[in-house]
Amino acid sequence: MLRIGMLTSGGDCQALNAAMRGVFKTVENNTNEPVEFYGFEDGYKGLIYSKFRILKDEDFTNILTIGGTILGTSRVPFKTIREPDEDGVDKVAAMKQTYYKLQLDCLVMLGGNGSHKTANLLAEEGLNVITLPKTIDNDLWGTDMTFGFQSAVDIATRCIDEIHTTASSHGRVFIVEVMGHKVGWLPLNAGIAGGADIILIPEIPYDIKKIIDVIEERDKAGKRFSIIAVAEGAISKEDAKLSKKEYKKKLAKHEYPSVSYEIAEKIQEATGKEVRVTVPGHTQRGGMPCPYDRVFASRLGAEAGRLILKKEYGFMVGYKNREMVKVPLSEVAGKLKTIDPKAGIIKQAKMLGICFGD
Ligand code: F6P
Repeated sequence: MLRIGMLTSGGDCQALNAAMRGVFKTVENNTNEPVEFYGFEDGYKGLIYSKFRILKDEDFTNILTIGGTILGTSRVPFKTIREPDEDGVDKVAAMKQTYYKLQLDCLVMLGGNGSHKTANLLAEEGLNVITLPKTIDNDLWGTDMTFGFQSAVDIATRCIDEIHTTASSHGRVFIVEVMGHKVGWLPLNAGIAGGADIILIPEIPYDIKKIIDVIEERDKAGKRFSIIAVAEGAISKEDAKLSKKEYKKKLAKHEYPSVSYEIAEKIQEATGKEVRVTVPGHTQRGGMPCPYDRVFASRLGAEAGRLILKKEYGFMVGYKNREMVKVPLSEVAGKLKTIDPKAGIIKQAKMLGICFGD
């Protein structure tokens, strides 16, 4: 008997179900051994508090195109993982206890950055762990791509597309604030795809004067509107000089709901143009996975299934140079994949005339 536990952790994204289905189908189709799948509810919480259900074939039927996660998810921050909960429960010991009580052969974890730190810790504690890279942010180290990202790019791009007509009718400046946490992959790709005039990402701190210059030049050239794709983690040159602590303190005192509103106010003051902010927010994580993500997540799931059958544990299944690769969890945990400001995609975007505020 092969017993496999599965959980989805952290913020959800598209194609979580497609990836789990990929694992299930691959294992079921490629062994004669009886297999039991245990689905833990709401991420690591399910493993800590032993909240699970046995997953059957029907649970994986018709879920390829469905967004969200059939298991539910939650965030259990890594920095609190070694702290007992409010009832004094030792979370790491509890997770191990659930794993051993169910006699699991391995745990499959679908998660992003923080979740990988916990997965690595569990592997160090002796559990057999295989992970899959999920996040709309595409910021996981060790893989060129994460599932959820392309679907989110589609949604953020559509938002920028739709803003164009109203921006043009009113001759306004529009800021579309795009998710991505501390990195700029999502705003960069959606910005280029949506034809944004200015893209602001955390990896390239901006100078507000440069942004204003571009808007005024466009105005002089008779272009009535400007579109700015702003990463939720965008940062000005002055703020980038602050220490982490100082910057956090500044943000805590902030009267703006997010960086976009601060930028909007400064542009409006300097140019006299009407500026509006649109925040697609969590819609970027919602709805159906795009076909790319369905294929990609299914392939990742299949590869995870293959590793399970070969009893090769302690890896994240990643994607490098168009091939599936296995990356040791110890190499993934705690590292961010950021954009190199000198990368080809930035150079090409600049050649297209896109301003990054630098
Ligand atoms: O990591 C995915 C993500 O959507 C980020 O882009 C965003 O910063 C964050 O999660 C939002 O988190 P929450 O769903 O907890 O509001």
